[in-house]
Amino acid sequence: MRLRAPWPRQKHRAGDWKILFRTSTTLNPKMWSTKRTIAAGDTVIVWMTRDSLEPLVVTPDAVLHNKYGSYPHNNFIGLPYGAKVQSSSRDGKGFVYLLRPTPELWTLALPHRTQILYLADISFVINWLNIGTGKRVVEAGTGSGSFSHSVARAIGSSGKLFTFEFHEQRAMKAKEEFAKHGLDGIVRLEHRNVCRDGFGEDILDSIDAVFLDLPVPWDAIPHAKRVLRVRCCSLVRFYRLTMLLERCSSPDMLLQSLYRASDAHSDGS
Ligand SMILES: C[S@@+](CC[C@H](N)C(=O)[O-])C[C@H]1O[C@@H](n2cnc3c(N)ncnc32)[C@H](O)[C@@H]1O
Repeated sequence: MRLRAPWPRQKHRAGDWKILFRTSTTLNPKMWSTKRTIAAGDTVIVWMTRDSLEPLVVTPDAVLHNKYGSYPHNNFIGLPYGAKVQSSSRDGKGFVYLLRPTPELWTLALPHRTQILYLADISFVINWLNIGTGKRVVEAGTGSGSFSHSVARAIGSSGKLFTFEFHEQRAMKAKEEFAKHGLDGIVRLEHRNVCRDGFGEDILDSIDAVFLDLPVPWDAIPHAKRVLRVRCCSLVRFYRLTMLLERCSSPDMLLQSLYRASDAHSDGS
């Protein structure tokens, strides 16, 4: 008896692979490039301990100091990403790892200017809102840009993230970081109060998903409805409480989940 594969066999023509390949190579902004070695001017994530990661721009003649020793940047140049570097002081007993930035590492290492979303929430929201290659997404507020970096990678250079922040310094800092990370073509940041002024007339009826991480997200909903392609609104407010308000033509659905600290007891309770 011949066993049949439980899934339908797919026939691929040579051209299919080209399309797949082309899609994945467009997702290659400077920040998460695939180049193998570190050069002057690169942003690397320095892993110091499990709880201490820091972004660093490799600058000739600069020196990184931490409590385990000193590390001249010149020693980093030409090393492969992932390299372990011994300190040049303290008899080389200290060490750091030089990691290639990814949105995940950026979230762990970024300079905090606000509360941020972490990976569990980011992946949940990206999945729930079906954010993928080529999608046009609105986000407010930008905050420290943690969520923005993951969205930028998910949508790639054929998508667009319109992100809004009403705190001027935060907006400027995030804009600078997006530019430094080569995300300019994917992310457009505007300094704007979205609850009062909406998201702008130029993106009406053109957006696939709206994500709101604001103190009063409901004030932005009428504006969100105007930019969405279909009448569909997704609203998330994160702090200790996560609320996700969804849904297209049917009455709004409220999905709410509360983070709870889980205690494990040795008696098994
Ligand atoms: C919690 S932070 C967002 C964090 C972001 N999701 C991240 O992962 O980094 C909320 C941000 O919303 C901004 N904000 C608050 N009200 C706003 C409004 N009406 N329009 C635009 N931004 C606003 C705040 O300045 C703050 O930076």
